[in-house]
Amino acid sequence: MSSSCSGAIRRVVLFPFPYQGHFNPVLRVAGALHARGLAVTVLHTDLRAPDPAEDYPTDYSFVAVPVKVPAEVVASEDIARLVMELNACCAAPFKERLAELISDGSKDDGGVCCVIMDVIWYSAQAAARELNVPALGFMTSSAASFGNFIAYPKLIEKGYLPVQEKRRDDPVDLLPPFRMRDLQRIETSSLIDGASLSSGLIINTFDAIEATDLTKIREDLSIPLFAVGPLNKFTPPVKGSLYQWQQDRRCLDWLDTRAPGTVIYVSFGSLTAMDRHEFVELAWGLADSKRPFVWVVRPSLIRGFESGDLPDGFQEEVRDRGWIVDWPPQDEVVAHPAVGAFLTHNGWNSMMEAISEGVPMVSRPFLGDQYGNASGGGNLPQACLLLIDLVVDVVVGKLLVAPTRPSNDGLPLLECLG
Ligand code: UDX
Repeated sequence: MSSSCSGAIRRVVLFPFPYQGHFNPVLRVAGALHARGLAVTVLHTDLRAPDPAEDYPTDYSFVAVPVKVPAEVVASEDIARLVMELNACCAAPFKERLAELISDGSKDDGGVCCVIMDVIWYSAQAAARELNVPALGFMTSSAASFGNFIAYPKLIEKGYLPVQEKRRDDPVDLLPPFRMRDLQRIETSSLIDGASLSSGLIINTFDAIEATDLTKIREDLSIPLFAVGPLNKFTPPVKGSLYQWQQDRRCLDWLDTRAPGTVIYVSFGSLTAMDRHEFVELAWGLADSKRPFVWVVRPSLIRGFESGDLPDGFQEEVRDRGWIVDWPPQDEVVAHPAVGAFLTHNGWNSMMEAISEGVPMVSRPFLGDQYGNASGGGNLPQACLLLIDLVVDVVVGKLLVAPTRPSNDGLPLLECLG
């Protein structure tokens, strides 16, 4: 399908942040745009580079942006520092690569119509603006989290930040239903400045669960807003892992043998690490539950250990009802009829997958947005009641086809791309 007036194919450039939970939603949107006829170039850092051989459409192009970040920063759990370092060192090489793409593209195709980049890439947003290419920010977590970012100066002013541990359960009147412990603590002024100057903001959420937060953001920023979730329902899956973990699908066959709604799925995303003590307690908790389960024990799940050695006697104890796996296709596991509950770290993608499949969650948040997600930032409790609406609310379809309502979240994304 052709996508421009001249008949030449327009190209969308995507620049995901090198974390799995940030990469997946951006690549899912790339898949949706590609299916509608746009050419796709993925700019990515050479840190945690995706493997182009991994089941992406053959006409995607991948272009590496070299970054230099000290190994100890990459290895540490200080995400705020990594975000700062990556922004500082990527701006110049990103701008160079993008300028090359713009000049190459204009010769033989419809040219670069737009760059879609994680809102965390605020330095790259500035570089795109300098090159006069429309840039859309992508908030890969919730609208409530973005509201938390916008509120940062007021949270400081009102004494909610920095969080004092003795007040961690106090309600935050600016951001109900958050309590102080739910607040994200990173300095966000560059991020919000960048997003405000962008051509639009894509948020990985949908009206049925975050209408109030979306309305508030619309009031705060006067730029087009696109709520594109739940992406797992309407866009092609991302099979690769940025950490080169091999996807293992065998648990799906095992789930086929279990009764509907009986299996607990246990996974803590790609990033979190727990102490060995908690890991062992969790193992015996699952054994004692007497329930069938699928447990993702990926590399580096246990702080300080590359692999997750299970406690002695555990495998024998759970032999017929426990399935341990490194890295399954989570969206398919959560959607499997045998899965009846999800013990989760409350990463936003995991939550979207669970909510959109109607799977109840048990929360064990670890960091960042996960506390706020677990507390039901936005209107999450309502989500369970709205599942029927959700199934018929084809959100990416709504974006790419005609708007069904007058608000700017209904602006078709393709139209905005020009
Ligand atoms: C990170 C942060 O931890 C999270 O709080 C933030 O909202 C996004 O960035 P992550 O911890 O990896 O993300 O969790 P999550 O947001 O749930 O994303 C994980 C992605 O990996 C999901 O798309 C999930 O489907 C996929 N996944 C996870 C797998 O494919 N297999 C697995 O075994 C686990």
